[in-house]
Amino acid sequence: MTTILDASHHNDVELFAARTVPGPRSAHLLAEQERQESNARTYPRRLPFGIASARGSIITDVDGNHYVDLLAGAGVLALGHSHPELVTIAQRQFELLVHGLDMPTPIKAEFTGKLLRRIPGYDAEAANWKVHFCGPTGANAVDAAIKLARIVTGRHGVVSFQGGFHGTTHLTMGITGLLSQRSGIAGIGDGVTFLPYSDSRNYPDQRPEDARYHTTLIESLLTDPNGGIPAPAAIILEIVQGEGGVVLGDPHFLATVADLAHRLGALLIIDEIQTGCGRTGTFFAYERHGIRPDIVCLSKALSGIGTPVSVLLYRSEHDVWRPGTHTGTFRGNQIAFAAGSAFLDILDRDGILDHVAAIERTVAAVLGPLPDLFPHVYEVRGIGAMWGVEFVAESGRRDSGGPIARAVQERCVHRGVVTEVGGRNDSVLRLLPPLNIDLDLLTDACTVIATAVDEVLTAGAVR
Ligand SMILES: Cc1ncc(COP(=O)(O)O)c(C=O)c1O
Repeated sequence: MTTILDASHHNDVELFAARTVPGPRSAHLLAEQERQESNARTYPRRLPFGIASARGSIITDVDGNHYVDLLAGAGVLALGHSHPELVTIAQRQFELLVHGLDMPTPIKAEFTGKLLRRIPGYDAEAANWKVHFCGPTGANAVDAAIKLARIVTGRHGVVSFQGGFHGTTHLTMGITGLLSQRSGIAGIGDGVTFLPYSDSRNYPDQRPEDARYHTTLIESLLTDPNGGIPAPAAIILEIVQGEGGVVLGDPHFLATVADLAHRLGALLIIDEIQTGCGRTGTFFAYERHGIRPDIVCLSKALSGIGTPVSVLLYRSEHDVWRPGTHTGTFRGNQIAFAAGSAFLDILDRDGILDHVAAIERTVAAVLGPLPDLFPHVYEVRGIGAMWGVEFVAESGRRDSGGPIARAVQERCVHRGVVTEVGGRNDSVLRLLPPLNIDLDLLTDACTVIATAVDEVLTAGAVR
């Protein structure tokens, strides 16, 4: 396994030394950003520094501080920042061809072939799956998936799940659960029905013994002739809800929903934008569950290097849309195809999926004990390289831990570790490290997190 330019190149004492964030240069950039950029910006509000450069799993800010990046561009940077092999390949491709609309090119054909062969049950001879290249964001792929499902079924409705996140275009925000972000936007969510995700452990004030009730309820709501929900065009599902707070779909729930979609004649869309490309330890997260999707959305990590690319993979029998039904100027990013093709090879060559399993064991070993040590740590959960630490305040309510999670995130930044928050009212500290992160570095970064939890909770700064 080749680990690329990780902390082995840094002195840990320097890396995790306390620093003032933002430093003076960062403060200047942040002020300029506030004057020039939109109020809708997000990350620099909680990670208040300007980035000068980044390599592997290390970010360097404009004041010269280093950070271990456990966010990896929100899961985009599968092999960390500027993986040297991918940089070389991207540079070569820059010389050759950058933009190709949706014309065929040799590198696109190579990438497409490799990608299709990752699909369980793909038969190249029968061409039983197809790919559609979308505009360069995850949300654009989800938009396309819903459009295709509506065309195939001639129906309008979409079933989505509480806590789900599918993007922030008008359509995708309409199937995303985040009420605070949706508020004030007229006409959002037309034809969308939200149902409970997974099982009752995910909701405030519910009891574990209610777990199976959710699938019974979902089945009843969708099949009851007096239930008021017409048979939908699509059911869209994440196997692990990332933005929703790293909620792992219960296998029985996932199987029930998949089966229901097929029984209802709806298309089953699996949104693998965050979970795909090896993040959970298999190339697609749905592989572990033996379910049969009609459409799979992939984006984020797909080029390995962060160059935008976004696709739909779907069964060929659904290939009924007309030419031009889903276009977009930026669908022919040859740099992403070249890097993506090499990334798919490196996944196998460097045993990245095995490394993701080692990441899972490493995070579990360092952070797993936290709930036993601190009553305000409700749960540490995750799979592969996708982890969450959920906090609760005195009330014990599942949506109450936001102030604690944000305080821990802030302390981590001051100690050189970049994390994210998510879930109900930001109650979950989230980790999405590069899939090739050095395990010693990860252990050290998780220790910084555990120390920050201790400091925040025992200092009583936030409860
Ligand atoms: C599951 C899922 N779907 C869709 C999206 C939207 O992707 P993008 O931000 O590239 O539009 C995200 C982004 O976090 C996601 O996690």
